[in-house]
Amino acid sequence: MSLRLAVLASGRGSNLGALLAACARGCIHGGVVGVFSDKPLSGAIALAGEAGVHAWAMKPNAFETRDAFDAAMFDAIDAVQPDLIVCAGYMRIIGAVAIARFPNRMINIHPSLLPRHTGLHTHQRALEAGDAEHGASVHIVIPELDAGPVLAQARVPVHGGDTAETLAARVLAREHPLLLASVAAVASGALRLDADAIRWQGAPLREPLRLGDDDRLHAAP
Ligand code: GRF
Repeated sequence: MSLRLAVLASGRGSNLGALLAACARGCIHGGVVGVFSDKPLSGAIALAGEAGVHAWAMKPNAFETRDAFDAAMFDAIDAVQPDLIVCAGYMRIIGAVAIARFPNRMINIHPSLLPRHTGLHTHQRALEAGDAEHGASVHIVIPELDAGPVLAQARVPVHGGDTAETLAARVLAREHPLLLASVAAVASGALRLDADAIRWQGAPLREPLRLGDDDRLHAAP
């Protein structure tokens, strides 16, 4: 069965672009069946239009409450019957009620080595903390921000003289293959997001998988 992906994005959409290209190349056994956004003018929504993918985007201030916005967006997500929901640069906090509609079916890519640096400005904070390593994590979305079980991580070195911008660029170059490998692993069944446990090749996952130089996921050494 081909994995039906719903992608949530607020920004330029480079992760979405990487997913669309990987599905088109057949590197992911699945397809993007909808793109959803709180930013109608975002690059991600423009990209969905160019790719001919169904898109839903509304400004949250058109709704009375946060929950009302979430309810409308997640009704639209429900309508495309996704197997997996991918938050790829979706910058708005999702309420617990909406998250509970898709237990273990929603993942997020976050630009840090979680549990370090949840929230915003992760690259600047990694520099300020003097971290020798930084990177990106793919995790399951739970109501607590950036706190769900981590499925996989990509690590990059921090160089002397790095700025938040140079570090962000180094991380982004590994974010894309990390997200693609993670989604491909779910699509192939190698990575299973079961209610009782996350399983990698049939065994419960004890530590996040690592993205290797070969752009494939490997069990932590
Ligand atoms: C990525 O760094 C993602 O991890 C973060 O926002 C950025 C989105 O980039 N949460 P893009 O819109 O996919 O280009």
